[in-house]
Amino acid sequence: MAGKIPREFIDDLMSRVDIVDVIDERVPLKKAGKEYKACCPFHDEKTPSFTVSQSKQFYHCFGCGAHGTALGFLMEYDHMGFVEAVEDLASRAGMEVPREQGPAGEREQQGPDLGSLYDVLARADGFYRKQLREHPQAARAVDYLKQRGLTGNIAAEFGIGYAPPGWDALLALHANKSEQVESFITAGMLIKKDSGGSYDRFRDRIMFPIRDVRGRTIAFGGRVLPDSGEAEKGAKYLNSPETPVFHKGRELYGLYEARKAVRKLERLVVVEGYMDVVALAQHGIRYAVATLGTATTAEHLNRLFRLVDEVVFCFDGDRAGREAAWRALDNALPVMREGRQLRFMFLPEGEDPDTLVRQQGAEGFEQHLKKALSFSEYFFEVLTADVDIGSIDGRARLVEKARPLMARIPQGVLRSMLGQHLAKLSQMEPNQLGAVLGSGASTSPASRPVPPRAGRRKDAPSPVRTIIKGLLNHPVLALHAGPAQRFVELQQAGVELMVEMLEMVQADPNVNSAVLLEHWRDTEHERALYRLAADETILDTEQMEADFLGALALLDRQRLEQRRDFLIQKSIHGGLNEEEKEEMRRLFTDQRTT
Ligand code: UTP
Ligand code: MN
Repeated sequence: MAGKIPREFIDDLMSRVDIVDVIDERVPLKKAGKEYKACCPFHDEKTPSFTVSQSKQFYHCFGCGAHGTALGFLMEYDHMGFVEAVEDLASRAGMEVPREQGPAGEREQQGPDLGSLYDVLARADGFYRKQLREHPQAARAVDYLKQRGLTGNIAAEFGIGYAPPGWDALLALHANKSEQVESFITAGMLIKKDSGGSYDRFRDRIMFPIRDVRGRTIAFGGRVLPDSGEAEKGAKYLNSPETPVFHKGRELYGLYEARKAVRKLERLVVVEGYMDVVALAQHGIRYAVATLGTATTAEHLNRLFRLVDEVVFCFDGDRAGREAAWRALDNALPVMREGRQLRFMFLPEGEDPDTLVRQQGAEGFEQHLKKALSFSEYFFEVLTADVDIGSIDGRARLVEKARPLMARIPQGVLRSMLGQHLAKLSQMEPNQLGAVLGSGASTSPASRPVPPRAGRRKDAPSPVRTIIKGLLNHPVLALHAGPAQRFVELQQAGVELMVEMLEMVQADPNVNSAVLLEHWRDTEHERALYRLAADETILDTEQMEADFLGALALLDRQRLEQRRDFLIQKSIHGGLNEEEKEEMRRLFTDQRTT
């Protein structure tokens, strides 16, 4: 049974993982100067105040005060237990978690073993790709892909593979180990039979791996071959089910590939199908992604808008496409805010991006893209489509239709602009309209509340505090501090902690902020340390270095004063030995020269 995880291991672990990777794969981050930013996943906000520092290895939100290390993030965001989070980070760093010997404790509660799911999916991925090259039946799949205009390069880039026919092609390779079969089932690759046993979910299909932002395969879409026996059995596309590593409402097909292909993404186009993404890529349009057989969710959009300012929905021009577009607009309302441009693109009837780009090339597709409607154009186009704004009744109906929709848009510039336009269309006074829409939908730009800054204090910090703060933010400063033991006798709050911290970094310059923070997790110092660590972003490094050295000098002075006072007292009460007399002389000379 598992014993306690040694603290030294956590120290070591925290110096090896990168918080930017850990967070980015859950909350895509945008680089901003030396740091990374995103809208805070722990509170609702419009402008990013969630900051991740790579050098300091911790995150901090200036809006809600959330903060922590990579370890803390996993615990908060993925609701992992401490041990589970340690194990997750360790497996990513290729480390095994050691346990201290001792009374066997309760085994910590664990979620599903995600590592083994990624592992299983990677193996399935490799297997399907190999089959596309080698399986006797795969020539049909290769021909089909060619016939759809794909080259080997693009197929390889998207990792397209082939699931052979039969019930146990995948199973047969792994059936010898029951533990693995379980993982394959959990990963959605095998289906369990009621009678016991299991069989391959994907058979005789072209396989599209769905990858997460790090490029790990998390699920598959499988397209039936036109001449396959599977074709009569229904679905043209079969998708992996929801699993612990795959959530349809969050993932987008092609996002990993787009980010890899385009150095600086400026816009992303959301299309409907796997083949649309791949065909567009084939023609050089590398910024298309697809939802996975579901409507676009607010989560999808938030994810896209963290990467780019412009998202274009692309729909078929038929009725189904129009309906899907309106559904997409409806889902997008809560995430529409300043700086986010959402547009709607409609293709000629009967075409999808795949057929269009094959006929008209990238240029033709981009011509249609240029004609995409803006959010407000599309919004009012639909709302006014079946009302007569020449009549009072029609205008009233328009306002009634717009009201619930506008209420779901966050307050801000976009909402007030829509309000202004609606006032014009409905021929109402803006104030009157504002009253109708409710105070929450005021047509004047709303002033935004300033988020409280967490952990700010006015009083001058003590030198010990300044030094600890400097160390937390820039541990290498310890190397300029000289022997830390000279401070142990100083009578000041926090000296012990400061000395320990100085020595820890002096012993191992790889120690980063996260190591320090995790080292004092669950101690009386934890909270104070986090506060000091998070305080940094407002200071520049040079200033901090100057403060650190200044505080060090001050402590040295205080230390000498304390020593001098002691010697004076001693000379009055008991007399000094020769050594102490010499020391006293030195102390007084030093004072005169400084
Ligand atoms: P479409 O039916 O529009 O197919 O499905 P398509 O993308 O044009 O496919 P091709 O060109 O015939 O290969 C669009 C998307 O809807 C989901 C898939 O994600 C597909 O890419 N879908 C469709 C399913 O999940 N299951 C289905 O049976 C069909
Ligand atoms: Mn198609």
